[in-house]
Amino acid sequence: MSAQWSRHDSNHPQRSLARQQFGLDVAPRLQSTVQLRSTRKARVKMDPEKSVLFVCLGNICRSPIAEAVFHRILKDRGLTGTWKVDSAAIGEWHVGKLPDSRARKVMERHQLEMETLARQICTEDFSSFKYIFGMDSQNMLDLGGISPPDCPAVIEMLGVHHPAGQTIEIRDPYYDTGDAGFEKCYAECHACLSHFLDKIQPSKSN
Ligand code: 4NP
Repeated sequence: MSAQWSRHDSNHPQRSLARQQFGLDVAPRLQSTVQLRSTRKARVKMDPEKSVLFVCLGNICRSPIAEAVFHRILKDRGLTGTWKVDSAAIGEWHVGKLPDSRARKVMERHQLEMETLARQICTEDFSSFKYIFGMDSQNMLDLGGISPPDCPAVIEMLGVHHPAGQTIEIRDPYYDTGDAGFEKCYAECHACLSHFLDKIQPSKSN
């Protein structure tokens, strides 16, 4: 059985990846009062095919929204706890932080449960998730640069699953002044992830 890590464990493999690949030091252990969903660190054995990691540059805007949206879609379909869902950053700048306040506002508005404190993607992620979704073309280039050559994961841009049939880039709202771009990001994630799940796991009534 492979080891399981909480993202704040001192021996989490992201720390060794950060050192090896980016020459980075580790994030300090967090003392957070934020209540994270208990399923996040669940050690329940799940179908390995049902696992998805959302990746963006900082893991404070787009990927935590995508993660929360997917949990919500699963909940709405009675599938809570059946998928392993996580998110991660390409870069290490925001490791340990809560999502951006504007992302939190959008999650609150749509009654999404916040799942995440930012972490950086690690080597183990490429073998422990079936689907790894980047949010934009640059994320895809970065993922291509760090994924192992024999990586078994399906690494795609989330926007390939947009129901209109044309690949989109998920709106990057980080440099916006307000939260309108975060709403757009939410809507795009919702559309793509609903459509993705329709294809992967059609509901029995369909
Ligand atoms: P995210 O947004 O990748 O959707 O979390 C960003 C977060 C931070 C930065 C850029 C985008 N940044 O440059 O620090």
